[in-house]
Amino acid sequence: MDIKIADRMAHINPSAIREMLKVTAMPNVISFAAGGPSPEEFPSKELAYLAGKIFETDSYTALQYSITEGYGPLREITKNRIKRKFNIGRDFDDLIIVSGGQQVISLTTQCLVNEGDIVICENPSFVGALNTFRAFNARLIGVPMDENGMDINALEQILKAEKKVKLIYTIPTFQNPTGVTMPLKHRKQLIELADKYDVMILEDDPYYELRYSGENVPTLKSLDETGRVIYAGSYSKTISPGMRIGYACAHKDLIAKMTVAKQTQDVHTNAMFMMIVAQYIEQYDFDSHIRECCEHYKAKRDFMLNKIAEKLSDHLKYTKPEGGLFIWCEMPRGYSGIEFCKFAASRGVVCVPGTTFDVEENKDNNCFRLNFTIPSTDQIDKGIDVLADCIKGFKQ
Ligand SMILES: Cc1ncc(COP(=O)(O)O)c(C=O)c1O
Repeated sequence: MDIKIADRMAHINPSAIREMLKVTAMPNVISFAAGGPSPEEFPSKELAYLAGKIFETDSYTALQYSITEGYGPLREITKNRIKRKFNIGRDFDDLIIVSGGQQVISLTTQCLVNEGDIVICENPSFVGALNTFRAFNARLIGVPMDENGMDINALEQILKAEKKVKLIYTIPTFQNPTGVTMPLKHRKQLIELADKYDVMILEDDPYYELRYSGENVPTLKSLDETGRVIYAGSYSKTISPGMRIGYACAHKDLIAKMTVAKQTQDVHTNAMFMMIVAQYIEQYDFDSHIRECCEHYKAKRDFMLNKIAEKLSDHLKYTKPEGGLFIWCEMPRGYSGIEFCKFAASRGVVCVPGTTFDVEENKDNNCFRLNFTIPSTDQIDKGIDVLADCIKGFKQ
């Protein structure tokens, strides 16, 4: 049957990462492609206990329809926690629990961006966000990245030249896919520019608490004195992505609109998992769980960086992230990331080609992304050996 897909979806392609994950399921394949926490860090025993208790004692709340703003105790716990730890949230702000940070991106776009409006983002950037902006028929303009994140001068040139900019989308801490963090000076400049040109900022921050070295940099939201910044937080990387629990902290007028928008998407976030997360944070030592994740991921990051230094550094440039999940590799000019990733996959190692994250879709580039949190050190050891062999044998 010839199904006539709406224009807004016709040009959106399946994520190359999801496609790659299909190859990953094959035996003996080493995957550096995924973007989640290590399954060893899931607090499964604690969550199973809480789930059982909730069904025993309050199955009504877990199984009945819930309110769109989210389970009250989880909202309060989250508000208090991000205020206390990161100074996020002012009198003019409010917070809504949503189905992952991904939903903050779609609700923000649904509420703020008209067809043809411009969304500025880092280039490269998180493909889930890019596809959301595309699905809402926004015009995307990418700002090149350097070791300090978004190039602030290039951003200003765009803001000067373009009149229809509605939103700046940024992942300032341990960016996906590059792992780069924007320094405080640039964060302040970014907010000044957004003020000057009257543009909203969406700060997507799922990795903030996964820092393995260096000093914390204040979030954009903590610097926001006017309600210009929408903060997207998530429990995906610190507890589990399968639960689909995230949150938005933004000006209360916008949160009210996002609440209505959420009713058109999924009514409310999964009640059972909202309750589980609330009780997990209340009854266990969440900060110590995060510290344990950080120790584990730091060891893996260091292992992968050392291995890359030993085996790949003569052949490519790479980032040295202070946290998060990813290392970004840049091969010499003219190399194809797509062809290289195909070649590596044929040898049993899966990575994600840089084009996946490019604002200009289908434009190949010489980059690829590596995840270090999910593979074991043994897999990292073997996988980087394979990539080193591949790059030596890779003919353009
Ligand atoms: C930058 C960024 N934003 C948002 C998400 C989506 O996270 P969630 O599971 O909270 O929807 C991801 C997931 O990989 C991400 O990397």
